[in-house]
Amino acid sequence: MNDYDLLVVGSANADLVIGVERRPAPGETVLGSDLAVHPGGKGANQAVAAARLGARTALLARVGDDAHGRLLLDSQRAAGVDTGAVRVGGAPTGVALITVDPSGDNSIVVSPGANARLTPDDIRDAAGLFARARVVSAQLEIPLETVTEAVRARAAGSRFVLNPSPPRPLPAEVLTACDPLVLNEHEARFVLGGDGFDDKDPEGRARALLARGARSVVVTLGAEGALVAEGGGTAVRVPSPRVGAVDTTGAGDAFTAALAWRLGLGEDLVTAAAFAVRVGAAAVTKEGAQASFPTAEEVAAL
Ligand code: RIB
Repeated sequence: MNDYDLLVVGSANADLVIGVERRPAPGETVLGSDLAVHPGGKGANQAVAAARLGARTALLARVGDDAHGRLLLDSQRAAGVDTGAVRVGGAPTGVALITVDPSGDNSIVVSPGANARLTPDDIRDAAGLFARARVVSAQLEIPLETVTEAVRARAAGSRFVLNPSPPRPLPAEVLTACDPLVLNEHEARFVLGGDGFDDKDPEGRARALLARGARSVVVTLGAEGALVAEGGGTAVRVPSPRVGAVDTTGAGDAFTAALAWRLGLGEDLVTAAAFAVRVGAAAVTKEGAQASFPTAEEVAAL
């Protein structure tokens, strides 16, 4: 019995965002816009994105017992996410310092805070939640051993989706569970060890990641959409609708959440990715991460 379409295991950050004309060089100071504080974090973003689309969603994360933690919990609850498993305390809530340039591109530095204290024991304590989840989705702003424990905690038949961001070398136990591994070209290069891959060949990267053991791979290509690949078949490009980008923060999280949800409903990878690129495209048209995530009606209208 699956009570949850999606269980997200991951980070929750307060995003401190400043718009800039350009980023400072080392040793330089530039002036930016007024500071905006938004709920963010790759895990919390995925949970809100999925719930807003209509998925029955739970979040397993850790926040501090502070104002940022309350901001994050309020945002989750407003979207309809089950926050019963969110741990509170142990360290301040994670913070992301984000600059957004006029093209909508962002640069992010994360101070993990409480995210770094989400432990394998927290996963084991949530065994009941894992037993009721159709899909488990994780990212790498929490300890890798916690992600590994999430792989082990999955119920038989439940699917595991990983966005390895920020990228780290992945143990075989994690890589071979990914169905799919969802990553951008920079992350793909890192996971593959950097050398020997043509920058203009995402298909080659996807094939190499399959050869390393991932069950399926989705390479996100920004405004170009995504590339999906699974064992045996040829890689398929899934184009994105053209939109005016205001702020790309969190668009990848919305894409991954939408993909994970639709896969859990039984869609094939190409069909789920075709829906997910529309969700990602909608998310870049508004400022902020969670505030920009669309409803299913908004995706249909795109
Ligand atoms: O993917 C976007 C997210 O990355 C931001 O919300 C920020 O918190 C960082 O985790």
